[in-house]
Amino acid sequence: MSFKIGNIEIKSKVILAPMAGITSFSYRKFMNKFGCGLTYSEMISDCGLMYKNQSTLELLQSDGSDRPLAIQLFGGSKETLLKGLQELNSLGIEYDILDLNLACPVNKVVKGNGGSTWLKNQNLLFDMVSAIVKASTRPVSCKIRLGWDKINVLETCKTLERAGVSFIAIHCRTRTQGYTGKPDYEAIKDLKDIIKIPFGVSGNIFSVEDALNAVKITKADAVLVARGGIGNPEFITNLNKAFTGEKYNEIVDFDRQISYLKEYSRDLVKERGEKKACQYLRGIAPKFFNSISGTKELKNQITSSLVLLDQLFKIIDNFKINK
Ligand SMILES: Cc1cc2nc3c(=O)[nH]c(=O)nc-3n(C[C@H](O)[C@H](O)[C@H](O)COP(=O)(O)O)c2cc1C
Repeated sequence: MSFKIGNIEIKSKVILAPMAGITSFSYRKFMNKFGCGLTYSEMISDCGLMYKNQSTLELLQSDGSDRPLAIQLFGGSKETLLKGLQELNSLGIEYDILDLNLACPVNKVVKGNGGSTWLKNQNLLFDMVSAIVKASTRPVSCKIRLGWDKINVLETCKTLERAGVSFIAIHCRTRTQGYTGKPDYEAIKDLKDIIKIPFGVSGNIFSVEDALNAVKITKADAVLVARGGIGNPEFITNLNKAFTGEKYNEIVDFDRQISYLKEYSRDLVKERGEKKACQYLRGIAPKFFNSISGTKELKNQITSSLVLLDQLFKIIDNFKINK
């Protein structure tokens, strides 16, 4: 089950994918208890680090309970990424892997030449990534897509390996596809024969069957759990069990979901303060009840009226489910 990213031992095939607005320290700490091999920070702006932007620095909280931890940087030039990295290391944060975001499709990021824009030009990509690998005190990984508008993933992976990268996480969609459409796992089915470094597969990992299928096709060393794990932490446990051939139980229990949600929200409030925490929770909290029938009204109440943690707790404690 275990593999190495540089000198870092990754003890499970199940990785918590980076998600802006979701994978705060509290989320990583909470999900890690269910058996993540690695967690990622939200994407961190290189310029935000350079200018010591308060909301960027807020994203860098950790007490080590989320390790092994990859901190993900994004930026549009080698120079700013190098400066951002220098600033990151001056903060004295404990982390294990430096990850580069070469995957983000969002206009705001690609307009500044960041995220998936890097997939367009292999020479620029090689130049930037080799400079970062040289400057980094940690193993470097990259998160990529299949390509910008056409698929060039095999070429990109070779470039990244040549530049000294230790792990590649591949979202099996192009930039043009955004987050919809079927991921094309077949596009990386021969990758194991082409590169020696480990890689992970991402895209539509919503069930144990999805994960087993993705690994079967791609022979990936790991799967990245993104939307499929939001509000469903036991998904991580089940995936670990499935990969080691143990029996697992996919039934989601209402009372357990309530206690998970409370644990995670209390920590999130401690981390970000009540106002910001409630912004995160409005999107995330209803998802804890997605697999439980008869909770539509509960989810609506959470989404429409969450401004205080007490309010969330009152809503869920007062809700009576017909079992
Ligand atoms: C809300 C959200 C935020 C995301 N933010 C990031 C990010 O900051 N960095 C990154 O590399 N990928 C990010 N992703 C992409 C995920 O890591 C993952 O590759 C993608 O969601 C595909 O997996 P899925 O179809 O199983 O959700 C984000 C995805 C979502 C849904």
